[in-house]
Amino acid sequence: MAKILTLHGVNLNMFGKRDPKQYGTATLAQIDEQMAALGKELGVDVEGYQTNIEGEMCSRIHRAFEENVDAIVINAGAWTHYSYAIRDALAILKAPIIEVHMSHVHAREEFRHKSMFAEIARGQISGFGVDSYLLGLRAAVAAINAIDAGK
Ligand code: DQA
Repeated sequence: MAKILTLHGVNLNMFGKRDPKQYGTATLAQIDEQMAALGKELGVDVEGYQTNIEGEMCSRIHRAFEENVDAIVINAGAWTHYSYAIRDALAILKAPIIEVHMSHVHAREEFRHKSMFAEIARGQISGFGVDSYLLGLRAAVAAINAIDAGK
């Protein structure tokens, strides 16, 4: 069974309590539950990981390389906009990377318009709340299926 890793970055453990106008009221645990449920439906194994420490996120990505994870869905939070270290770690992977954001980052402050991952991600899904993650998972499965079909 294909394995997909969902990576949640800095401050995302506060979903549910943090700025509900931007991020809704779902907790990170509820997001991971919905990802696991959709993963079951789509026939893939989904694991969620969150950290507030940049180096730990890099180490988890290195481990994903060793584990041959099939795809990554990542919401790196504010790291998206400035972390060369996480970008470099992600660039080591051969697996497809899907970038997601709960809020519509391009309709917010200018510093959120730039993603360090844009060139290495298959695409970005932003502005649909928890559905951004679920759509990201569907995109990840489609990317895996395309690789399997040799496309
Ligand atoms: C976010 C958007 C980022 O700009 C912000 O720093 C976050 C959350 C989102 O999911 O909308 O922490 O990634």
